[in-house]
Amino acid sequence: MPANDPRETVELPPCPAAATMPVREAIAGRRSVRSYADRAMPLEALAGIVWAAQGVTSPDGRRAAPSAGALYPLSLHVVARRVDGLPAGVWRYSPEHHALERRGEGDRRTELAHAALRQHWLDDCAAVLVLAACCERTVHKYGRRGERYVDQEAGFAAGNAWLMARALGLDAAVVGAFVDADVGGVVGLAENQRPLLLLAVGAGGDAIPDDRPPVA
Ligand SMILES: Cc1cc2nc3c(=O)[nH]c(=O)nc-3n(C[C@H](O)[C@H](O)[C@H](O)COP(=O)(O)O)c2cc1C
Repeated sequence: MPANDPRETVELPPCPAAATMPVREAIAGRRSVRSYADRAMPLEALAGIVWAAQGVTSPDGRRAAPSAGALYPLSLHVVARRVDGLPAGVWRYSPEHHALERRGEGDRRTELAHAALRQHWLDDCAAVLVLAACCERTVHKYGRRGERYVDQEAGFAAGNAWLMARALGLDAAVVGAFVDADVGGVVGLAENQRPLLLLAVGAGGDAIPDDRPPVA
């Protein structure tokens, strides 16, 4: 089903069928990679990664990552720099439509790296995922403990995304050190949303000593 505004929406292909690396290999090969080749990543790979994080996997709307009370407080944004078939810019993932909706134009990753306490290795990756959340519904149901649940959910979503990246022969690194307001400004978060983590993704650079298992 197309999302509301087709001019501002890129419908995503399904998660690539080639993402069949054994989970053991994906886990054993996961390392935080902070050096990236200046190569575009395929849109299919990005589609698989965002689907793994927050995709709808059940007819009743439940998603790839678990959520306390199935309330789904997370939002997933992509700050894209080099993704084939996706203009550079800020995009928000729509789990319901498996589509990306444009939220901002142009390459914003240098700004994002700046917001992440000048971690300028972020400049080189193909895209950065930003997981954010509106805690209200979860806190309404679970009280203060709901805040913890929302943080835990971000961990599940990022873990899924990272393992999918590995299964597709890509690398990733999580970033927790950033100024919330600055990241919120880059991504265009609403007042009631707070950023929880960043996940850089792309093809690891040649400098990486790679004794990991080969990728199919
Ligand atoms: C919650 C969290 C926040 C992190 N934040 C950063 C960060 O801001 N910058 C960074 O370079 N690495 C960050 N890391 C990555 C850790 O440094 C890394 O996981 C650790 O050195 C172990 O290496 P490995 O991931 O390759 O196994 C973070 C990891 C976690 C779990």
